[in-house]
Amino acid sequence: MVIEADRLRAAGRDLVDFGVGEPDFPTPEPIKDAAIAALRADFTKYTATGGIIELKRAIVESHRRDFGSDYSPSEALVTLGGKHALFNAISVLVDHGDEVILPAPYWVSFYDQITYAGGTPVVIETDEAQGFRLELGAIERAVTPRTKAILLNSPSNPSGAIFSPETFRGALELCRQRGLWLISDECYAKFLYDDRPYSVAGEPDSKDVLVVAGSLSKTYAMTGWRVGYALAPVPLIKAMLNLQSHSTSNAASIAQKAAVAALTGSQQAVAEMLAEYRRRRTLMVEGLRAIPGIACVMPAGAFYAYPNIGGLLGRSAGGERVDTALAFSAQLLQQSGVVTVPGEAFGTTQHLRLSYAASPAAIAEGLRRLGEFCALLK
Ligand SMILES: Cc1ncc(COP(=O)(O)O)c(C=O)c1O
Repeated sequence: MVIEADRLRAAGRDLVDFGVGEPDFPTPEPIKDAAIAALRADFTKYTATGGIIELKRAIVESHRRDFGSDYSPSEALVTLGGKHALFNAISVLVDHGDEVILPAPYWVSFYDQITYAGGTPVVIETDEAQGFRLELGAIERAVTPRTKAILLNSPSNPSGAIFSPETFRGALELCRQRGLWLISDECYAKFLYDDRPYSVAGEPDSKDVLVVAGSLSKTYAMTGWRVGYALAPVPLIKAMLNLQSHSTSNAASIAQKAAVAALTGSQQAVAEMLAEYRRRRTLMVEGLRAIPGIACVMPAGAFYAYPNIGGLLGRSAGGERVDTALAFSAQLLQQSGVVTVPGEAFGTTQHLRLSYAASPAAIAEGLRRLGEFCALLK
């Protein structure tokens, strides 16, 4: 859908883009200033592969401050984005034939990274009626002798759902009992609307079975800077470092300095962005719910809405039958110029993902077009 959207855009089509998963805010000024200062100081050479010590300290300190964890810099690895932290962890942990338990809807890269490593994603259901709640029983039932890890992402891309501390504690306990790893993707951990920020790494005795993948991309509107991190036991960090040293090497030197400024400076910009996302969430979700045939769970975090369009499938618009979310998303793009991501990408068949990291005017216009498109479906 994104490729087709690029083609239409290049052809001059006026699109409303709910497809991209990134903040529309600029990177805050103090962060940019730190990168400029690093450049001017000629901090432009290789750094230690696993990141500069200043940044590792900033990572573990900010994680302690925000979530009550207790890591030392030797348990941290600076990566080229959160995706890279996940890739390193999955590459090192998952062998051919291993299974990784993955709740749906899941972020598409999880599935592909597990498969790429030779593993098998074992997809488990969540309960949409309960805000995509994950039952511990569903995880337990999915464990087999081949299970290597459980991968949880809260708040979730694409649903915005959060998993409860009880679920995390249960998953942790299961990992301890069965000798599994818990991989926790905290990419959106700072974007929670009602609940207090939570990391399973703040639970006592969590560290020996846990890999945290973190990212500065969304929190600080730094998607293009490519800085993320992993927190894990030292032997695992060493293995990931080894892989990184023979593949990407270090994250960009000036981006690392910018990341130090992001983590150690004022967090006011983060609070402001969150307040704005909250307003946009209301606009998006209320607008979606007002369209007949669409139901939408209120996302508890991140900046995505994941409406259920099942009530509209099986109909036709402009002579085209729309039987799947994929077809719905494609027709919506062609006929109304609205970019969305169909649920098939995330392991469900009746949903669309809409990012509300877009301006309120774009949200209003996109919803108007979506409403018109849905009214045409007969
Ligand atoms: C759930 C999730 N994890 C990790 C990432 C990785 O982000 P980055 O590699 O930019 O840090 C993303 C980005 O979209 C994401 O949605």
